[in-house]
Amino acid sequence: MQTPTIVNAKRNGTVPVESPQEVGVAINGSTHTAHPGERVVDLINRVGVKLAQVCYHPQLGPIQTCDTCMVEINGQLVRACATTISEGMSVSTVSPKARAAQQEAFDRILSNHMLYCTVCDNNNGNCTVHNTTKLLAIEHQQIPFQTKPYEVDNTNPFYRYDPDQCLLCGRCVEACQNVEVNETLSINWDDPHPRVLWDGGSTIGESSCVSCGHCVTVCPCNALMEKSMLGHAGFLTGISKKALNSMIDVVKGVEPETGFSSILRVSEIESAMRESRIRRTKTVCTYCGVGCSFNIWTKDRHILKVEPSDGPANGISTCIKGKFGWDYVNDPDRLTTPLIREGNGFREASWDEALDLVARRFAEIKTQHGPDSLAFISSSKCTNEENYLMQKLARAVIATNNIDNCSRYCQAPATTGLFRTVGHGGDSGSIRDIENASLVLIIGSNTAESHPVLATRVKRAQKLHGQKLIVSDLRENEMARRADLFLHPKPGTDLVWLSAITRYLLENGLAHEDFLRQWVNGLEEYKKALAPFTMEFASQTCGLPVQTLEKVAHMIAEASGVCILWAMGVTQQSQGSDTSTAISNLLLVTGNYMRTGTGAYPLRGHNNVQGAGDSGAAPGTLPGYQSVDDPEVRARFEAGWKVKLPSTKGLDNHQMVDAIHQGKVKSLYLEGEEMAIVDSNSNHVAAAFSKLDFFVVQDIFFSTTCRFADVVLPGTPSLEKEGTFTSTERRIQRLHQVFEPIPGSRPDWKITQEIANRLNANWNYAHPSEIMSEMASLAPLLAGVNYERLEGYKSLQWPVAADGSDQPLLYTKKFNFPDGKARLFPVSWSGPVEKSNTEFDLHLNNGRLLEHFHEGNLTYRVKGIQEKTPDTFVEISPELAKERGVQSGTWLLLISRYGQVRVRALVTDRVSGRELYMPMNSTESPVNRLTSSITDPVTHTPAFKETSVHMQILPEIGESPLPRVNPRFGHPTPQEGVEVERKWKRPDYRLPGSQLVQIQQK
Ligand code: SF4
Ligand code: SF4
Ligand code: SF4
Ligand code: FES
Repeated sequence: MQTPTIVNAKRNGTVPVESPQEVGVAINGSTHTAHPGERVVDLINRVGVKLAQVCYHPQLGPIQTCDTCMVEINGQLVRACATTISEGMSVSTVSPKARAAQQEAFDRILSNHMLYCTVCDNNNGNCTVHNTTKLLAIEHQQIPFQTKPYEVDNTNPFYRYDPDQCLLCGRCVEACQNVEVNETLSINWDDPHPRVLWDGGSTIGESSCVSCGHCVTVCPCNALMEKSMLGHAGFLTGISKKALNSMIDVVKGVEPETGFSSILRVSEIESAMRESRIRRTKTVCTYCGVGCSFNIWTKDRHILKVEPSDGPANGISTCIKGKFGWDYVNDPDRLTTPLIREGNGFREASWDEALDLVARRFAEIKTQHGPDSLAFISSSKCTNEENYLMQKLARAVIATNNIDNCSRYCQAPATTGLFRTVGHGGDSGSIRDIENASLVLIIGSNTAESHPVLATRVKRAQKLHGQKLIVSDLRENEMARRADLFLHPKPGTDLVWLSAITRYLLENGLAHEDFLRQWVNGLEEYKKALAPFTMEFASQTCGLPVQTLEKVAHMIAEASGVCILWAMGVTQQSQGSDTSTAISNLLLVTGNYMRTGTGAYPLRGHNNVQGAGDSGAAPGTLPGYQSVDDPEVRARFEAGWKVKLPSTKGLDNHQMVDAIHQGKVKSLYLEGEEMAIVDSNSNHVAAAFSKLDFFVVQDIFFSTTCRFADVVLPGTPSLEKEGTFTSTERRIQRLHQVFEPIPGSRPDWKITQEIANRLNANWNYAHPSEIMSEMASLAPLLAGVNYERLEGYKSLQWPVAADGSDQPLLYTKKFNFPDGKARLFPVSWSGPVEKSNTEFDLHLNNGRLLEHFHEGNLTYRVKGIQEKTPDTFVEISPELAKERGVQSGTWLLLISRYGQVRVRALVTDRVSGRELYMPMNSTESPVNRLTSSITDPVTHTPAFKETSVHMQILPEIGESPLPRVNPRFGHPTPQEGVEVERKWKRPDYRLPGSQLVQIQQK
């Protein structure tokens, strides 16, 4: 049967406001103003009228499966979620017809769900079924509950599905198909007993499910639940299955006599009692730079669940790490006492002894060898406030600019490219702007695995809104498979094809002349620099056909807005800065800046890699990117800090390692960084650590790097402290403390302050908010940032003016140069430094894996992630595997010019020819034993991606390094969404209230 909607609302996403005019709409007799085009359900919710709506979720749009939102409009019964406002509407949510339809619809829902709220872990005040039963004053079911002929599916380590409790609302399907766009879920509407299916009928464990948790988050009842909730949330839910079933029987037994209301009253008392012991604390994800935020539900130190809902970057979205990757916080291996080296081992020490030792040795080394013999490396896992204090310790207390953070390993070239051309080193817009682009170009980024939630927005825009996608990468990763056009250039040649396309656009009248005239300097000189970049040269150098390159050029020229996203595949090359510059040049030539749906988006890797740089943890810049050699800037900081500051740029991470080898740097204080594994040419780095006179490592676990330390100080993870992180969108967000620090550990900002004060700094920060206020007072970029403006889910995207206004879109009125114009910055081509030859004949690429973060120090401690992805591997193309006689599981020795690792092969067509790929998640076989010390000359970022290896086949053959339960073996079932039309076609389906309407019409 067809749905009798008046005007059907847009199927997915936000409903555009079609007219700025407001219209009057009567709801239950009261007139309210609304926008034409707004959904009726949204208006009803906005004005606070209570209406049942089981399947509707504002971030999913109307799904239309439940029919509980039936209202009467101008005499006609319609679904409020699927109807848009128009002038003169009169809506009744309470007319007899509407009420009867709502109750009829909900009765059908209840036939799919057994109400046992008091002993249900979802009885937390927010259960849609419970609340709707109460709202509609349902006392008895007309259609009895019927079990479905399926078992509970427990095969995913993080969540379970109970078909018997499933309402068939389809929210999970919509979220998986059209928000996460993993396309695993569907409902078999044509089956006599519909249920949610994974990959069309697999177990969850063996399906393509990536455990992002979207489905669990949006499920309105207990059908999909986090396993960490089960048996833990309620007072009576931890009892044995047998006792639980008896209790359920008792509840069902009394229902016919008492009705639901008395049962609900009991469960509400139980639910209210839970309030006293379940805490919900807002925090920000500690893994990648997307900046997802969510509430963490905890009971004592047990994490019940992660609940995303209102995060400005992510809404209901998370990936496996943010949703389920928190076991490490309570891991028994956490460091709980300072350690001091004794011979070849360590002994436990008190905090006072350890801190006294650190301060004394810093002072001695400074006196003996000068301030520049000390160096400091801060952490992009730590907060802005902690980074600020670390650089202040280096500069104001020790008097050296030898301070850096790990953005050196990844982001510095992108920042340089943007500083050269547009003036700020940050993303030029928000994730929302990327969604709004008509064309997205992704270069050297495995976005779906490295920035999963951001990738979902691109996948959704492409699937639902016609966005075009071009991907350039060595691997056919997920985004490449989805792309409208996939380019596979030769390694390290992106600069060439980007420049050739730019030249082609300029020469063929496809550049944005008006934009160039009004907003851009340096065109003529830039054109000259483009001379070598003909299409033919690019084709030959990059191995891409001229026609393909021309196609890319025309797609860019024809697009109304282009966003370019790039990551380590670009920046970790010996020409990373120049390639980043070429990207920005291309955007300028085509006028793709200064409006939504355009711009440059270097995707920041760590949760706070943007913030570490913003906070001044860099050798050349004080907080807010103010140069250390600018006397005016220094004078301001000197007045604020009441010290004399060093004026020459310090050493960056890479130079520090060399300076240690040369005997110039004697002491290193390293905070939250597994540098012995994540820096390139790790054998060389480890050898440097062995030469240090004094090495302090601050971490939450005894990392590989700790082995080289003289003092190890136990810091705390993000859940145990207050502070702020700044995401890839330049978005500053607060994290609120979830747990007390475990006994023996201390928040990193407190440790740094203790060390500074032992060196007579006299710092008195009682709370991170005071640190942020000081930073804001000294850095114009952050002038208006304070904790009140960041309370809860509020966020600010820098630059933030003193009055608190921020800039989601970075360039609207000008670029960040004195004359307000951008600059085309000429670049030339020199090619990769490290090349393959007959001995090292294979190119080795590397990067992240969805499930693990970097070397896996945190994620290997998550049992479910271990189960899904237990080890690293090297990807080998089927053709190379055949040529060398390798199969998945064959042990190999990869040997580069710098080191060797033993690793198992994974044969896959994600890579081709003689190109290998190795994820970086291993402490035993870290890929960086193979990478070199070659760097981008501008930023000294290692060319991690320029590595050649020789492959030796070892005699052992093991299991495939990826188990069968890894989602990469699944078979997704893409479809439009929940496909409710198939439900409506069922012979047993009838629109609620339609029988009533027919009787009345007769
Ligand atoms: S991928 Fe898995 S966890 Fe994510 S929404 Fe789909 S079924 Fe749920
Ligand atoms: S499992 Fe899916 S279809 Fe079933 S109730 Fe939950 S969200 Fe709705
Ligand atoms: S790892 Fe990144 S994408 Fe995943 S939840 Fe955390 S911030 Fe979001
Ligand atoms: S809320 Fe409208 S049909 Fe479900």
